[in-house]
Amino acid sequence: MKNLPKIVLIGAGNVATHLSQALYENGIQVLQIFSRNLQKATELALQINAQPTNDLSKITDKGTIYIIAVHDDAIREVAEQLAYLKGEKRLFVHTSGATPSTVFKGVFKNYGVFYPLQTFSIDRKANFQNIPICTHTKKKNRIKILEELAQRISPKTYKINDQQRATLHVAAVFVNNFSNHLFHIGEQICEDGNVDFDILRPLIQETTAKVQSNRPIEMQTGPAKRGDVKTIQRHLDYLKDQSHFKDIYELLTANISKTYQ
Ligand SMILES: NC(=O)c1ccc[n+]([C@@H]2O[C@H](COP(=O)([O-])OP(=O)(O)OC[C@H]3O[C@@H](n4cnc5c(N)ncnc54)[C@H](OP(=O)(O)O)[C@@H]3O)[C@@H](O)[C@H]2O)c1
Repeated sequence: MKNLPKIVLIGAGNVATHLSQALYENGIQVLQIFSRNLQKATELALQINAQPTNDLSKITDKGTIYIIAVHDDAIREVAEQLAYLKGEKRLFVHTSGATPSTVFKGVFKNYGVFYPLQTFSIDRKANFQNIPICTHTKKKNRIKILEELAQRISPKTYKINDQQRATLHVAAVFVNNFSNHLFHIGEQICEDGNVDFDILRPLIQETTAKVQSNRPIEMQTGPAKRGDVKTIQRHLDYLKDQSHFKDIYELLTANISKTYQ
């Protein structure tokens, strides 16, 4: 990378926090961090030698790439407030898996997406060596700079267009959000039955370890796959007073049965 891009980060949440640290650790200068909350922007900016601001009308025009890491629903609104910075030289990207790059259409000249595909929580260290970064921009002269930025912080980079990213995001909701919710339900059931959830943690570990080197469809076990009707009935009886869990049990059992019939 001959001329390192200068980054401006809009947002100070989960993604902005981890991304700004990864950029900083890899020698990429973050000029400025925006948050509506100046204290949040300042805390983050101090860690990476950037300038904090809580004023979208005072964003520096010296940036090369502007990364907008705000709530999906606020991306367009924030972009419109940054429209005064549009220009041939600057590239604007968001970090959302679910939002098409066209959210920027009519606002900026150069725009795209810089989507780190991982689940981020502010207090949990993110290892970018194992975080795929999906980049997209239609402007040919901007693809290289975006890819090079991604490669600087992660060895796993992919050119993923809007349609492919929509596919990945729906799949990600199933493999992460839904499976985590099912872990939560398991914990709830243990708590209600006065059993230690820790006993189930090795099972969770093995479940996720197996799919690292095997197809999930080949790793399925359990009563729904086997067609053990009596066991399924016992479970439904157990959940008879917890209809919010019973509904999910029935839906997933029917879906698994259909998959393996
Ligand atoms: N969390 C993940 O695991 C993950 C993974 C990949 C991609 N993403 C994507 O990354 C983006 C940010 O997600 P996140 O998890 O970092 O969210 P987050 O922790 O909730 O932080 C959201 C940020 O958006 C800002 N914001 C919200 N509404 C705003 C508005 N109207 N105007 C200006 N700023 C506003 C918040 O501002 P204040 O600081 O002023 O409160 C905050 O800094 C989203 O597009 C999300 O889909 C998230």
